[in-house]
Amino acid sequence: MTEALERAVVPPASDADPFAHDALLDPEPLHRALREAGPVVYLSRYDVHALARYEQVHAALVDWQHFESGSGVGLANFRHETPWRPPSLLLEADPPRHDAPRRVLREILAPPALRRLRETWHSVAEELVDQVLSAGTEFDGFAALAEAFPLRAFPDAVGLGPDGRENLLPYGNMAFNAFGPRNDLVAADAHRVAGLSAWVNAQCAREKLGEDGFGARIWEAADRGELTYEQAPLVVRSLLTAGVDTTVHGLAACLYAFATHPEEWQRLRQRPELARAAFDEAVRWQSPVQTFFRTATTDITVAGTVIPADTKILMFLGAANRDPARWTDPDRFDLTRDPSGHVGFGMGIHQCIGQHVARLEAEALLTALARRVERIELVGTPQRHPNNTLRSWASLPVRVQPA
Ligand code: HEM
Repeated sequence: MTEALERAVVPPASDADPFAHDALLDPEPLHRALREAGPVVYLSRYDVHALARYEQVHAALVDWQHFESGSGVGLANFRHETPWRPPSLLLEADPPRHDAPRRVLREILAPPALRRLRETWHSVAEELVDQVLSAGTEFDGFAALAEAFPLRAFPDAVGLGPDGRENLLPYGNMAFNAFGPRNDLVAADAHRVAGLSAWVNAQCAREKLGEDGFGARIWEAADRGELTYEQAPLVVRSLLTAGVDTTVHGLAACLYAFATHPEEWQRLRQRPELARAAFDEAVRWQSPVQTFFRTATTDITVAGTVIPADTKILMFLGAANRDPARWTDPDRFDLTRDPSGHVGFGMGIHQCIGQHVARLEAEALLTALARRVERIELVGTPQRHPNNTLRSWASLPVRVQPA
């Protein structure tokens, strides 16, 4: 036994299943229990160590040398298990392999590069809001706005062709389920893996992509030698996997937040320039991406507990984003709060490369809504959709009062 192991603190153990439906649909009670149990909790069901406090989650996210991503950011350990698809060159890679794809996407998705999309996305959002309001004042805000807007804006920006776009959300749902255990949610999509993957992979080919989108920019980076031609389609795939469902559920989180906090909606209407901060606060409050895993590269001591080398660590981003040790009144959606530092987009070298894209989408949709809608309220119980990673929605029945 190593000296570190001899002196190690035995962490509290829990047999809770964070991937059971009840926990996925309502994760806060489990998050609270895990945070209170200690800085590290051993989850016996999956033989992993879990971090639910902000301090430890943040520390793990920024320490890629000890908490690696290349062995997978789901429960599967790629050192011993074959991944269900060729691993992502960004999400599931460590430096130095991670460096070039990251550099290329950072440039393509940076705020200056997005400036030209701003006007287009604002008018797409205004058109959509007009269309929805002219059809009636009671509707499913999830389908009509949170799903519809990114599907109108994002695939065009990537340069996707018109056919088969209905595959995007099911592919994302499947990919985010695949980070969890092989439970019923994974089994439910087993028959679609081959078909959905074939469609997504085919869209990443250069000839399938329009000349004026993020996809074409990625292939041009390969022409300049910044990526290999083998890497280019996988980098395009990252956009199609990570860029749609995440934003859909992030926008749904905003609608839910404003429907349940009318005073915050009034604040946004008076100051529409708060739209981006409001989106970040909704991402903190709901954490559309709830969890990611890492793998210990060596024995790692966290708050006295030794996490053995080669084992998986589950980071609860959602729990960290509501840790009362970091946030005042954490369960409150509050536009006067400074949400910066939340880990809803991760932190460190893997921090979401598409966050400026997501913020621009949110700014466009929230600004258009704030101009035309006096009040949003729920007219039924919102339905969640269980997913092993995403805090997802199935419906959000709302009534709006036009301004
Ligand atoms: C990484 C969340 C939107 C592309 C991440 C990570 C999180 C996250 C938590 C960190 C993963 C890790 O540390 O292992 C979100 C949320 C979004 C969103 C909550 C919307 C509300 C987007 C969009 C795109 C995108 C719109 C594409 C345009 C990516 C990519 C990575 C990533 C490629 C991997 C980056 C790397 O490993 O270097 N995202 N994301 N995301 N995101 Fe997002």
